[in-house]
Amino acid sequence: GSDSAGAPVGFFEKYPALVTGFFFFMWYFLNVIFNILNKKIYNYFPYPYFVSVVHLFVGVVYCLISWGVGLPKRAPIDSNLLKLLIPVAVCHALGHVTSNVSFAAVAVSFTHTVKALEPFFNAAASQFILGQSIPLTLWLSLAPVVIGVSMASLTELSFNWIGFISAMISNISFTYRSIYSKKAMTDMDSTNVYAYISIIALFVCLPPAIIVEGPQLLKHGFNDAIAKVGLTKFVSDLFWVGMFYHLYNQLATNTLERVAPLTHAVGNVLKRVFVIGFSIIVFGELKTFSISIPSSLHFISIVLEAVTSVEHFFACCRQQDFNPNWY
Ligand code: 3PG
Repeated sequence: GSDSAGAPVGFFEKYPALVTGFFFFMWYFLNVIFNILNKKIYNYFPYPYFVSVVHLFVGVVYCLISWGVGLPKRAPIDSNLLKLLIPVAVCHALGHVTSNVSFAAVAVSFTHTVKALEPFFNAAASQFILGQSIPLTLWLSLAPVVIGVSMASLTELSFNWIGFISAMISNISFTYRSIYSKKAMTDMDSTNVYAYISIIALFVCLPPAIIVEGPQLLKHGFNDAIAKVGLTKFVSDLFWVGMFYHLYNQLATNTLERVAPLTHAVGNVLKRVFVIGFSIIVFGELKTFSISIPSSLHFISIVLEAVTSVEHFFACCRQQDFNPNWY
């Protein structure tokens, strides 16, 4: 085809929805692999603060090499921009480490079940911190997942308070991350924004990792892991988990550039449905997940949340007063 000026129009320009669909697919795909590999590492190397630093470190090296070859070209940064990005990066770092503390402590499916509450936290923040009024229908659409997560927590075999509370702190951190991200909307493209956020977050994560896990790591942590799987596998696992972590987050940020924040939040819940499904298959978490009828109900409630959120999204789009800041 060609546009009105006669210039040829590429396949991707002609079918933007297909491109967006591809972004979602890649985001989910990379995230599922990340979650599986990440948990496999925690099963022989239970040091989430350190592994969180590795995730960011591999991503930062990847960004520096990408900038080095000009793909993408590095966007200039000044102190004003830095001031806007620092709160986003601090929340990103906090949510990242606390998610990982939870992944290491409980079943992956349970962490993602608790993290499915993130839209509920976002709605609460919009109403009670930003003072926007959230319609009752939206609260009602979030009710099933709140009930489901409560039931799941009561019946989850792998439940412990560290896993639960740290996943809840990550919900709060990522909610603040989205609030600050809105303030930090700039002309910079999403790949560059995420690169700068990774660099700042790396500096935030490093001191707590050294303080909390440094002594144990040097005493026996590294040696134990190498004794269990060998140096080559240990290093290559850490490298690949970092690559998948960086690429899924970059894809998630790129997707946010293409869709409304609400669509992105709905997409993130749907992502958890896939991650929960795959982690049940790979880690045999079905035993811990559906041993009783109430705990299998929480999976249904998350699927329901995703469905009702999609429905709510279309209802919002039809309304004149659609407010993309909900969530
Ligand atoms: C992380 O390591 O930061 C977590 O994987 C975050 O999880 P999410 O991107 O699924 O919220």
